[in-house]
Amino acid sequence: MQDINWGTLPFGYFKTDYNVRCYYRNGKWGEVETSSSEFVSIHIAATCLHYGQEAFEGMKAYRGKDGKIRLFRWQENAKRMRKSAEGILMAEVPDDLFFEMIVKAVKLNEKYLPPYGHGASLYIRPLLFGSGPQVGVKPADEYMFMVFVGPVGPYFKEGFNPVTLQIVRDFDRAAPLGTGHIKVGGNYAGSLFAGERAKKEGFSSVLFLEAKEKKYIDEAGPANFFAIKENSYITPKSSSILPSITNMSLMQLAEDLGLKVERRKVAVEELDGFDEVGACGTAAIISPIGKLVDRENGKVYQFCKDGKAGKISTKLYEKLQAIQYGDEADTHNWVTIIN
Ligand code: PLP
Ligand code: COI
Repeated sequence: MQDINWGTLPFGYFKTDYNVRCYYRNGKWGEVETSSSEFVSIHIAATCLHYGQEAFEGMKAYRGKDGKIRLFRWQENAKRMRKSAEGILMAEVPDDLFFEMIVKAVKLNEKYLPPYGHGASLYIRPLLFGSGPQVGVKPADEYMFMVFVGPVGPYFKEGFNPVTLQIVRDFDRAAPLGTGHIKVGGNYAGSLFAGERAKKEGFSSVLFLEAKEKKYIDEAGPANFFAIKENSYITPKSSSILPSITNMSLMQLAEDLGLKVERRKVAVEELDGFDEVGACGTAAIISPIGKLVDRENGKVYQFCKDGKAGKISTKLYEKLQAIQYGDEADTHNWVTIIN
């Protein structure tokens, strides 16, 4: 194994030793297989290749000060993957199989799990796709579920420092009655053009608006949006955003800190009145947003004027990470220790 500089890991693909696979054939899931190959061999007419029958999850394993490996709310990822499967007519992965495979993938690659204290973790990527052939637009008869892992650092190179987002109005990530609420590959394909353009124009990511009226904030490309105003934690309610497990947890932690939690439509103009804004997700953790620019009208919304994350965002970030790494009591029963 090469020497890994844990403190400077980017968020990206990292080759590890093993991945774990399982096939759904003839109406049932088969044996769990271990592979050391980074490749899969699939049918040329597999539905994932033609009709986008694919869903994935993103989660992390954390190494505590005590050396123990912790998973954060894996049951929620398993549940969301079942919802994604249901939404695009794929075979559902039972929770016990999901758990068995993520644990196996983590344990087989334990040497890649970053040691405590570098802000790094082992990213776990479960994916499910139609592997059986169809040429007509129909769901496959066969599915493959696999899990690979890799050590990662922060999603945005800024880490826990303010990022700049671009508000776009000429692209939608997902339609109100589409697939935005589940984690299917097509949503990400749909976000690429606007996302890459934003990067070329100097932004970390895009902030999408709700597609129908373009009045309300939906979410960022890879993360949910939240705002702090006085004593409230505010986050959009919309049928086209992904229900983020991080956001769900932050809402609870905000409540624990005595904040009022508001999950409601959030109009773009409200940005003027917010004290702090941020993006949250497994990969992003909390990324404080320092500036938003509306691409269409040039309007600028400025936050973190001292260049630092806001007080409440910082508190929430520290609290969440402390639970994930096992530094603080897991009072909500979110953590599963897998040693
Ligand atoms: N929104 C989108 C579009 C995402 O891809 C993700 C990442 O999973 C999130 C939000 C954050 O969700 P979670 O906190 O469950 O990782
Ligand atoms: C995550 O936060 O885990 C994600 O999956 C976001 C992105 C990498 C798609």
